[in-house]
Amino acid sequence: MKLIVGNFKMNLSYYEIEKYIDFFKEKDYSNVFFAPSSIYLQKFVDAGLYAVAQDVSAYEVGAYTGDVAAFQLKNLGVNYSIVGHSERRKYYHDDELVNKKIIRLLEQEMKPILCIGENKEERDNKKYLEVIEKEIKDAFNNIQKEYLKDIIIAYEPIWSIGTGVIPTNEEIEEVIGYIKKYVKEKYEFDIKVLYGGSVNNKCIETLEKIENVDGYLVGGCSLKYEEFENLINNIH
Ligand code: PGA
Repeated sequence: MKLIVGNFKMNLSYYEIEKYIDFFKEKDYSNVFFAPSSIYLQKFVDAGLYAVAQDVSAYEVGAYTGDVAAFQLKNLGVNYSIVGHSERRKYYHDDELVNKKIIRLLEQEMKPILCIGENKEERDNKKYLEVIEKEIKDAFNNIQKEYLKDIIIAYEPIWSIGTGVIPTNEEIEEVIGYIKKYVKEKYEFDIKVLYGGSVNNKCIETLEKIENVDGYLVGGCSLKYEEFENLINNIH
């Protein structure tokens, strides 16, 4: 079964979150995970839903105002965190922190969902595979192979996030195939790769023809629970 992660980003009020949880809590989607703002994670866990953090501190504990530590997420019952989302790389210089954040999560036996992907210019200049390879290498740096196995990758071309522009199936298949082969050859394990970038109910039928995708990271289309449920039901 494919993994589906709804990334709410910085959206939804407390009231909207309550309605959202009410809608999903009695349903039995064991492959669907929710990544709300960290202040709402506890509510998802309490409702028996799978909660994913959108980010984690690069530091273990201490004087880092505003940060949330991996051990604190783990204490709540959160076992997954997104790391290196392109919005964090763009606005918060996460490129340099991704490796440390992954290490913090692995120390807590949590599973990182590592986002990687090229921008439009890198795609146009045919540099996208180089970019992908560098992002993996940087993220995996100095981590023992046995721990790397807990990492999931989300391939998210930046030019597709929130734009409604979706790569062709061939373009997605090429990159996912490349990631899987690279990780297998260099780190000797089979990594799961999600696709993310404008996944919605209009394009899902086409995306579902991709053979090597293990799931989806969904932004905008996860914000309305009925739309998200439709999407879930269109994914096999
Ligand atoms: P989008 O966002 O589905 O709204 O394009 C995806 C993401 O950023 O994870």
